[in-house]
Amino acid sequence: MAVDLPLPEGLAAWERVVPYVGVAKVGLSLFVEHGPRAVEEFLRRGARVFLDLKLHDIPNTVELAAARAGALGVSYLTVHASGGAAMVKAAVEGAAKGAAKAGHAPPIILAVTVLTSMDDAGLSEIGVPATARDHAQALAHVAVRAGATGLVCSAREVAAVRARVGSKVVLCTPGIRPAGADANDQARTETPLAAIQAGSDLLVIGRPITTAADMAAAAKAIEAEIASG
Ligand code: C5P
Repeated sequence: MAVDLPLPEGLAAWERVVPYVGVAKVGLSLFVEHGPRAVEEFLRRGARVFLDLKLHDIPNTVELAAARAGALGVSYLTVHASGGAAMVKAAVEGAAKGAAKAGHAPPIILAVTVLTSMDDAGLSEIGVPATARDHAQALAHVAVRAGATGLVCSAREVAAVRARVGSKVVLCTPGIRPAGADANDQARTETPLAAIQAGSDLLVIGRPITTAADMAAAAKAIEAEIASG
């Protein structure tokens, strides 16, 4: 679950949905406000943590930040694939070093291909002539060759990305919306069942759960939808 909430509310939400979700995703708002404490609070509650910092900087800076993230004991860490092969490699190496020093297993480095809030027109606006699908495929190839063991893409291009990078890479898909749910700022959405059927390994779901009147019921319904597939 993407815990894009203030920390006390996020921890309370986690307690409610924990029977139905596997991983707590700590993103930018929680980390900017609380730093490592945001991660530690979820770890203390037995959660596996996905630290969604989407690192994107020169390789040395990313390596240092990834080492700090690895030392926290997170299970997943995101970087932008568009930072290039040297940057992704630096993240993989930094995270592994930091984790080993602190006695943790190295996190899976998930390289973000094309943000699920972007569509083809948005890509064209920033000078990328390719479709979201083709661009995600190309970035996926670069990131996996550089050592990323996971990727973030939309469920709409999971099959194309999988065809390019093979079966061993963890494919993580945000932009998940149950039928009839508000898309919010997401452009390339898919339902939980369609995402699983397309071959997603890890679904990132935030507002369909966190804005529901009954978060546990919303999470349970999504779990049931996934199980039906
Ligand atoms: O609320 P919603 O389900 O849209 O949350 C999706 C989460 O996944 C957000 O925390 C967002 O930062 C993250 N994310 C995304 N698209 C990506 C990578 C991460 O929406 N490509």
